[in-house]
Amino acid sequence: MSGNTIAVLASGGGSNLQAIIDEVESGRILCKVAVVISDQVDAGALARAKEHKIPTEVITKADYPVREEYDREVIRVLKGYGVELVVLAGFMRILSPVIIEAFPLKIINIHPSLLPSFPGLDVQEAALKAGVRFSGCTVHFIDTGVDTGPIIIQAVVPVLNNDTVRELSIRILKEEHRIYPEAVRLIVEGRVTVKGQQVMINDSKVDAEVSLTNPPVKG
Ligand code: GAR
Repeated sequence: MSGNTIAVLASGGGSNLQAIIDEVESGRILCKVAVVISDQVDAGALARAKEHKIPTEVITKADYPVREEYDREVIRVLKGYGVELVVLAGFMRILSPVIIEAFPLKIINIHPSLLPSFPGLDVQEAALKAGVRFSGCTVHFIDTGVDTGPIIIQAVVPVLNNDTVRELSIRILKEEHRIYPEAVRLIVEGRVTVKGQQVMINDSKVDAEVSLTNPPVKG
């Protein structure tokens, strides 16, 4: 699978969009960000796109209140730009099967938890409440469930004593900025294959001896 023309869909500040733009502009990802789409007229992501001369489109819920009609409009825009890979970066809408079927295994998302733990919203708070010792972030393909599609890459961060939601979110976001461009790069390079729920990454060596504990264990 590959996709050299990508679209980024974002509702918020767009720091993940920025991380991807930076890697594309540095030549480390061989693809073009053809368009940035937002459902929010004042999304910071739109300003970031404009700064980099990337076309923007705003599609609001007010104009398309029915989810399937909204998604059909997104599909129309994506096809118009010849988009092959759709990158959701803080896009706070659930996609309907209409768009998932139009772009099968061609839509990816980033989520600020170690899925399948803590799908949905307010997940950093949920992780703190559950008392997990590690959290992190996940890039996955979109399927018809909420945060359930095949997992491409994950990063792990420790949860510290007395962490606040803000502190944990910042620690996770820093890792998001590392793994999201990497996921895009792997897909664009055609190194990702999907078998059922499992993703295979070609030419990637993982050290099977690496492990982390929290708190640390000596020796
Ligand atoms: C990121 O933390 C991303 O993981 C999260 O929204 C934030 C967007 O930040 N996405 C979700 O929670 C999706 N369920 P950004 O606009 O700075 O990239």
